[in-house]
Amino acid sequence: MRLKAIIVILLTVKVIVITLFLTHYKPFRKNEQIVLNAIHNRTSIRDYSEKEVPAQLVEELLKAAMAAPSSRNMQPWEFYVVTERESLDRLAEGLPFAKMLARAPLAIVVAGNTQVGNPNQEQVYNWVMDCSAATQNLLLAAHAVGLGAVWTGVWPYESRIDVVRKTLDLPEHIIPLNVVPVGYPNGKHEPKVKWDETKVHWLQYPTPNTQYPTPNTQ
Ligand SMILES: Cc1cc2nc3c(=O)[nH]c(=O)nc-3n(C[C@H](O)[C@H](O)[C@H](O)COP(=O)(O)O)c2cc1C
Repeated sequence: MRLKAIIVILLTVKVIVITLFLTHYKPFRKNEQIVLNAIHNRTSIRDYSEKEVPAQLVEELLKAAMAAPSSRNMQPWEFYVVTERESLDRLAEGLPFAKMLARAPLAIVVAGNTQVGNPNQEQVYNWVMDCSAATQNLLLAAHAVGLGAVWTGVWPYESRIDVVRKTLDLPEHIIPLNVVPVGYPNGKHEPKVKWDETKVHWLQYPTPNTQYPTPNTQ
């Protein structure tokens, strides 16, 4: 009788474990979910703790930035990692909307190298798009590793470009797109909800609720 009860319990536990495994083990969904979570939970961080950011982590951000797509795969980007207090303070002073640099442990300047790829007249601003894609990757990577960051605009404002150029001693063909202060976030920061269905214009394409016919395999 006792043995029977033990067998019933074991079988019940087995069924529960298998059910849980089948309903929760989604190996392919898992990676997608991690990426989507980073995209949806990232938010601009402007308040940092004094904790130092390890150089290996900074390198992770730069690797993510360089994994971005670029026109003709030219990768016309340069990244300047600024950690000297004096330079960070100078940038904070000169850039009107980047005052948080005065409290950031470091900043990454994303800049376009206008000599890369021999751009023709129609391609002269490709570096802006390429560096923007790299910056977004960098911001997402910062969020993914527990850091906080924010894009502070430099290009196309001549006065801001001048501040960054002089602080970092950049040559003429290198144009700073932005300065990204990076640090461990102070406190908790909620992402903004931006989904807006009215901005989506489905043309000759099925909507997400469309029922697809069973594919004809013949
Ligand atoms: C091109 C560009 C320029 C920006 N410039 C600044 C800036 O100078 N200072 C700043 O604090 N934030 C700046 N931001 C950050 C935006 O304010 C921020 O992304 C926006 O408010 C949305 O908030 P979220 O990043 O938390 O989603 C900039 C963002 C972009 C894309």
